[in-house]
Amino acid sequence: MHIGLLTGGGDCPGLNAVIRAVTLSLVNECGARVTGIERGFWGLLHGASRPLAPAAVRGILAEGGTILGTHNRCDPFKDTDGTDRSAQALAFAREELRLDALVAIGGDGTMAIAERFHRLGLPVVGVPKTIDNDLPENDRSFGFDSAVAVVAEALDRLATTARSHGRVMIAETMGRYAGWIALEGGLAGGADAILIPERPFDVQALAAWCRAREANEGHTLICIAEGAKAVGQGLTVKARLADSPDPIRLGGVGAWLQAQLEPLLQSEVRATLLGHVQRGGTPTAFDRVLATRFGCHAAGLLRAGHFGRMVVLRGDTCDSVPLAAIAGRSRPVPADHELLAAARGLAVWMGDAPA
Ligand code: F6P
Repeated sequence: MHIGLLTGGGDCPGLNAVIRAVTLSLVNECGARVTGIERGFWGLLHGASRPLAPAAVRGILAEGGTILGTHNRCDPFKDTDGTDRSAQALAFAREELRLDALVAIGGDGTMAIAERFHRLGLPVVGVPKTIDNDLPENDRSFGFDSAVAVVAEALDRLATTARSHGRVMIAETMGRYAGWIALEGGLAGGADAILIPERPFDVQALAAWCRAREANEGHTLICIAEGAKAVGQGLTVKARLADSPDPIRLGGVGAWLQAQLEPLLQSEVRATLLGHVQRGGTPTAFDRVLATRFGCHAAGLLRAGHFGRMVVLRGDTCDSVPLAAIAGRSRPVPADHELLAAARGLAVWMGDAPA
């Protein structure tokens, strides 16, 4: 058996742990040959690959990023000039490398492309990756725990300086259109207010609440997701990348909120954009184990010939779902989620206008 393996979309802590687990599990359990495709689907289009023997994956478990590189602007079905080059990518996979199957590790964009290749006759197994934790059918993505740990540490640090100066400190997290990172990171870091896309907030009500805290606690820590928005406002878009399958890049809502609050408050307001530090660096122990479990489960699907499926975590058990069930869907924080109830119980301010 000859298996190709690629990492697509944005990177995330734990990708190398999956690469290692798939490779070792396939080599040890059925003597398969594994080939890494470089920079995601770009490598399939440009013929860039390298062998992945056990020696090649030694020592990478705790390493952030991906040893194979990745690409978030390459869709062989719609290349940068709009041309469909999927036949060229398919020919490289099947005729040149003579792959029996492909493991695609990535987010929704990668899964959508992988599913199209699967339908064209290249058997595929998907492994979900995203710090945003927003892939449907999957209770937990690896990388998310590492991102949450960064947010919690940042809030711990912002809290002490907020207290010293009697300031309102705002930390903006990643997460795209879902509030998972801000919600879990905010709870872990003891944020006083958590603002997520699923619950549009009222600026005047937030300012009134901050004023009450000026009189009492003296400082306020706000954790806001990049996709959060005030009632009646659109998303805060940082950039539009014309050649990306997912062109919108969010960012800047923390600075926007700072500008809104400053004239309404006595205290100084400061905003910190946490940005890509949430995505870089070594995975937490939890993410190393989850990524390893996902990789081993993917290898099991390949050995059993169960293709066209994506590995998922259901409760605490690895399972898989058809790739077709993922396309075009995401996983926002449900209104009845236990973490929202916990935040309410702690009197964390979450906006006056539930979606
Ligand atoms: O999907 C992961 C993610 O980090 C999002 O949270 C964020 O909005 C986006 O990727 C940033 O993308 P880029 O690395 O292209 O700026």
